[in-house]
Amino acid sequence: MDKMERNQVYLNAEAWVLEAGEQIRNKINEPRIIETKSNPNDLVTEMDKQTEKFLVEKIKETYPEHYIIGEEGYGDELTSLQGTVWIIDPIDGTMNFVHQRKNFAISVAVFHDEIGEIGLVYDVMADELYHAKRSEGAYKNEELLPELRRDLKLEESIVDMNHYFLCPNRVVDEKIMHQMIRTVRGSRSYGSAALEFAYVAEGIIDGYLSMRLAPWDIAAGIVLVNEVGGVSTTLDGVSLNMLTNNSILTCNPKIQEQLLAFIKNGRK
Ligand code: IPD
Ligand code: CA
Ligand code: CA
Repeated sequence: MDKMERNQVYLNAEAWVLEAGEQIRNKINEPRIIETKSNPNDLVTEMDKQTEKFLVEKIKETYPEHYIIGEEGYGDELTSLQGTVWIIDPIDGTMNFVHQRKNFAISVAVFHDEIGEIGLVYDVMADELYHAKRSEGAYKNEELLPELRRDLKLEESIVDMNHYFLCPNRVVDEKIMHQMIRTVRGSRSYGSAALEFAYVAEGIIDGYLSMRLAPWDIAAGIVLVNEVGGVSTTLDGVSLNMLTNNSILTCNPKIQEQLLAFIKNGRK
């Protein structure tokens, strides 16, 4: 995808994401229709579905030759990332959306022939848009995000992880995870993977770990983190597969090796 085309696609994506966000804000206090999916804590609302439908219709109208992977099923069933592929999570952090009415994001990425070209993560209630185009830097609204610190030490890092890591009987020994938490300066858990990637890109947290995320949780975030010199792999340090679920470590490159070593030592 050349720079001119990327820019045109970006401008459309940005306009649609901002419009979708405005629709969500306008209805934020309306009663919700809440359903559950894979388990009682895996929530979906009418707004998740409406938002994905809105975005898919816009994309299909403007770019009938593009493909779409969407969480709520309005996209296509794909077996490859050849061509131009949009990867959409209409509301990332649905539990936050339902319980807190904030701290959730719209996540939209555009990949072309397997390469992440565009990433948008929109914190709807804060009206903060994290956005990046490949090789053109990452931004939070108008502000260019600086390259991640090259002098970071693990002991000075804030690491973000889901508390499931600390439960017994997980694939990683909880004692090793306790040790990791005691080594770093602090830990956080925000409940929206897309925002957690954006915070890594912003350098306000230094790493984010997850045992299992879907492509739509991470696609836009990967583009953001790449643009500031961050790294994203599985918890085993292997490249991510954007057509399947992956375990995730995205972080400042200075602490990657040490975090991977904790996980490796703790593997049951
Ligand atoms: C979820 C959020 C959450 C993460 C879950 C995801 P959803 O996405 O990103 O932070 O821990 O694994 O499924 O369901 O709110 O789009
Ligand atoms: Ca999600
Ligand atoms: Ca979602």
